[in-house]
Amino acid sequence: MQKAVELAPDSWIPGGRPDPLIDRKHGLIGAQTSRVDGSLKVRGAAPFAAEFPLEGLLYAAVTFSTIAKGRITTLDTAEAEAAPGVVLVMTHRNAPRMRPMPLFLTSQKAAGGDDLPVMQDDRIHWNGQPVALVLAETQEQADHAASLVRVAYEVEPALLSFAEAKAKGTEPGIFMGPMKLEIGDPEAALAAAPHKVDTVYRTPRHSHNAIELHAATVAWQGDTLRVHDASQAVAHTAWSLAEIFGIDESNVHVTSPFVGGGFGGKSLWHHQVLAAAASKLTGRPVRIVLSREGVYRLVGGRTLTEQRLALGARDDGTLDAIIHTGTVAMTPHNAMPEPFILPTQSAYAARSIKLDVEVVKLDMLANTFMRAPGESVGTFALESAMDELAVELGMDPVELRIRNEPEKDPTSGLPFSSRHIVDAYRMGAERFGWSARSATPGMRREGEWLIGMGVATATYPYHRMPGGAARLTLTRDGRVTVEAAAHEMGMGTATAQSQITAERLGLSLDQVTVHYGDSAMPGMILAGGSQQTASIGAAVIAAQRELVAELLKLAGNDSPLAGLKPDEVGGMNGGLAKLDEPDRFESYVSILTRANSDEVSVVGNAPMPLETQHWSMHSYGAMFCEVRVNAITGEPRVSRFLGSFDCGRIINAKTAASQFRGGIIMGLGLALMEETVFDERSGRIMNPSMAEYHVPVHMDVPEIDVIWTDIADPHTPMGAHGVGEIGITGVGAAVANAVYNATGKRVRDLPITLDKLM
Ligand code: MOS
Repeated sequence: MQKAVELAPDSWIPGGRPDPLIDRKHGLIGAQTSRVDGSLKVRGAAPFAAEFPLEGLLYAAVTFSTIAKGRITTLDTAEAEAAPGVVLVMTHRNAPRMRPMPLFLTSQKAAGGDDLPVMQDDRIHWNGQPVALVLAETQEQADHAASLVRVAYEVEPALLSFAEAKAKGTEPGIFMGPMKLEIGDPEAALAAAPHKVDTVYRTPRHSHNAIELHAATVAWQGDTLRVHDASQAVAHTAWSLAEIFGIDESNVHVTSPFVGGGFGGKSLWHHQVLAAAASKLTGRPVRIVLSREGVYRLVGGRTLTEQRLALGARDDGTLDAIIHTGTVAMTPHNAMPEPFILPTQSAYAARSIKLDVEVVKLDMLANTFMRAPGESVGTFALESAMDELAVELGMDPVELRIRNEPEKDPTSGLPFSSRHIVDAYRMGAERFGWSARSATPGMRREGEWLIGMGVATATYPYHRMPGGAARLTLTRDGRVTVEAAAHEMGMGTATAQSQITAERLGLSLDQVTVHYGDSAMPGMILAGGSQQTASIGAAVIAAQRELVAELLKLAGNDSPLAGLKPDEVGGMNGGLAKLDEPDRFESYVSILTRANSDEVSVVGNAPMPLETQHWSMHSYGAMFCEVRVNAITGEPRVSRFLGSFDCGRIINAKTAASQFRGGIIMGLGLALMEETVFDERSGRIMNPSMAEYHVPVHMDVPEIDVIWTDIADPHTPMGAHGVGEIGITGVGAAVANAVYNATGKRVRDLPITLDKLM
């Protein structure tokens, strides 16, 4: 008989028992399970935010400011108002009074990208700020009318130049605490080191380009605001909209069943607020779908960074000093200093370390979170510099990293919960054929093509944010539904949680249904920080304990389970069994039927994430890249890529592989293409379209191999670490290092375009 799964502990602190699912090697956990919603998506039956048909729907279009700073002096809406189909032209003159958006991270449920007034006055804060919102009977009518709004401005001097702002002075960046740290005397250690590199790396602005445009369909039903949103934070968005409109949180209902990519950009921006305001004025439902240009103008992206990376090493390659400092741009109205030092906090066992993120504030669109904020660009600098040091030392870059592998976290001093990065390196090197690499650049050539290999470390923290909760409802037919205010942005949330719940409760996959994407469901669960799986998983554990306690009460004295305590039983074969005596078993159907109960429903709250206080916890990877660079045109082509990951227990081998590959592809864009062109004279984004802002297409992406250690972390739910963001980290450096190996040219400014290689 199958072994029952004991109830998992709700604590992963020292002395806590590991989640029993860690050891279930032949069940649903880790399986290649196809998406439970795959058929819906393929058939076009999965509804996205802009696809909810409502009676009397109006369509919205936005007019954007064309200056970076100043005042509106003339706002002529007459022509727009007279255009066919137009129902409303909303400006600061007739918009309802609203509070600013609660800025993300300033309180638990804040979801706003900035805390500026939303169309409340004549002030302009960035080039692209909405100055009018048009509602019309069709999208085409709204788009046309938005082009007829006439605006004149009084321009004020704006701070737009990064260099100018830096010359005026920087301020320390604060990101969940200060981003400044010094251990030992790194400048002195660097000066004295026999081997060193000391260089500056630059990464440009990036814009969010999820396939699904930012969209919302909103309607007021009496005093209740109903929002179909494209969101990675439904509970946060509901609370934030309630704050903005001065109504009770329970009067805002946000749903988001399917999202076509988020990456940190699908939070609360001005468009949802404006749509809700305009809907209020007209008394009709409103659909707003930002144009692609609208996303560039209105939704923040990743900011630019300028990073000094200095390494000092002894002859054996061990590091005496790491210095990682630099400056990023943000605005006076947000709180996201791109935290590029994060990977360097835990990467290498240096004898001295200095970290510092400084900030300048520009008059631009508020920058925001974008897949692996900090790590994706921070690893570009750190891992490029490690490659430069390997060249200086004449040492293999894999070997250099292994020599500097820390015993414990080098800055926090905490033990690592589970770190098998060396295994990932060795597995990856073997599979990629790393030993065939020539240490001397420019040695491999096929016709016009120079071929090189590069490697870099990937790293992203394990997070589990407070607020995880889930409702489990067991019905008399022995089926279970899970409800959590979580999100499906394409990563396979419902699939992974179905596997976890089924395995834990002893059910088959088709006996579990996962509902999510609804602010009325339990939990405050951000689909961000690669933490959603752990957050829901911990909540399901808590809910299962409640469920088992309820079931034992219902089972009563006539059950084979009579007299047992919750800790003595576990889920198995569609029921509960005594852990050490599995013949003492009763099925869920039998318990509910005998008790004449239709269903049992419980809510479990995940405990506070104390594990992160006791351990240094991260996902890891070793990224191997082969590039071909055309010796005549400079055209760089990635020809092979391998990601070798160490991310704890992998829950779903199929969806995790997709996450890894998707992250790596986004990393190829970061390495070779992506750049938001910001005109420092006007503050205007000059390439707000996918024709001019390049991301990888199929022809740019080679076969990407992904492998993983699958070593469970005993200190996390299911033994898992996050897999959503790790894939983009390290890729920039792996590509840059391969380009160096191919050509002997070291590119320190992303993206690596052919003009830098000619
Ligand atoms: Mo992400 S940048 O945590 O969606």
